[in-house]
Amino acid sequence: MDEQSILVEELVKKYGDFTALDHISFDVREGEVFGLLGPNGAGKTTTIKIMTGLTLPTSGKVLVSNIDVTKKPNEVKKKIGWISADVIVDDDLTAWENLELQAKLEGLKEWKERAKQLLDYFGIFEFKDRQLGKFSTGMRKKVEISMALLHSPEIVFMDEPTIGLDVSTRKSLWDIIRKINKDFGVTVLLTTHYMEEADMLCERIAIINKGKIVAIGSPEELKSKYGGDVIEVQFYGSVDYKIFEKYGQVIAKENSIRIKVGNAEDVLVSMLKDLSQFRVKSLRIEKASLDTAFLNLTGSTIEEGDFDARKFYAMLRRSRK
Ligand SMILES: Nc1ncnc2c1ncn2[C@@H]1O[C@H](COP(=O)(O)OP(=O)(O)O)[C@@H](O)[C@H]1O
Ligand SMILES: [Mg+2]
Repeated sequence: MDEQSILVEELVKKYGDFTALDHISFDVREGEVFGLLGPNGAGKTTTIKIMTGLTLPTSGKVLVSNIDVTKKPNEVKKKIGWISADVIVDDDLTAWENLELQAKLEGLKEWKERAKQLLDYFGIFEFKDRQLGKFSTGMRKKVEISMALLHSPEIVFMDEPTIGLDVSTRKSLWDIIRKINKDFGVTVLLTTHYMEEADMLCERIAIINKGKIVAIGSPEELKSKYGGDVIEVQFYGSVDYKIFEKYGQVIAKENSIRIKVGNAEDVLVSMLKDLSQFRVKSLRIEKASLDTAFLNLTGSTIEEGDFDARKFYAMLRRSRK
């Protein structure tokens, strides 16, 4: 058995009459990259806030590094790092000064060696005296991650780490997350509403929707269990689709059928024999994706909408000043 890093059991969070988290349970193993995947308002940030000791749950159990976060939040804070879209960094300070501030917040005395090591690791030590406001988004992320890793945490929490980033910065951040997970041995818990991100990065994913966890597993498990491939065939003329029901659920239209199968390659050869008695116009395979899994599990898709996270967080920052 792998060592357990986080345990969440029957967690409930209510805001007045509204239930934001409805008895959620999951565990995160030491050294893994674990993803909480769900749409806006699913309860991801609330879960992170509880795990990091920023908010108390209404009920339920949360152990982080085997410590009860509701009882000893300060002990937990020593073992965790936190990165979020509205992370506390100061644009007017240099990268080094931001690290110094972080060291003070964490009460670290011997931090300079570690800070240098981290900036070297990310290849940005030579820019340490540049104001953070003058960094590119990608470099800035490296500073934020250095700040989160400064006190050598066991677990790093990342709340929507790539929200609002352009595609290439997002991809390089994925590389960084994978690399720090391996090189520093940190367990990573991240939240995202990007299917592709969860698919690419996470060893295991918990799909969360409307405050409930609807499925947990590796991306492959979730795809094959809840996704499934679809084979779509168009015909010249109509067909009796019943003979295809042995392969899976058939949705028939006038001149076409869609068959939901487990793995398309496994059934295709025998299916071609059945198809040979008809005049086939086209044949297409849709491989399973997390999107289909999510759709099947929740009855809706994750919609990004026109919510502009960067503008929203900028507004939030301004309103705090
Ligand atoms: N402080 C709060 N007071 C009332 N409702 C809240 C508060 N924080 C979050 N919520 C609600 O709880 C739900 C979950 O929010 P959140 O955890 O931020 O979702 P996510 O991070 O998945 O987008 C949302 O419906 C949100 O409006
Ligand atoms: Mg959130």
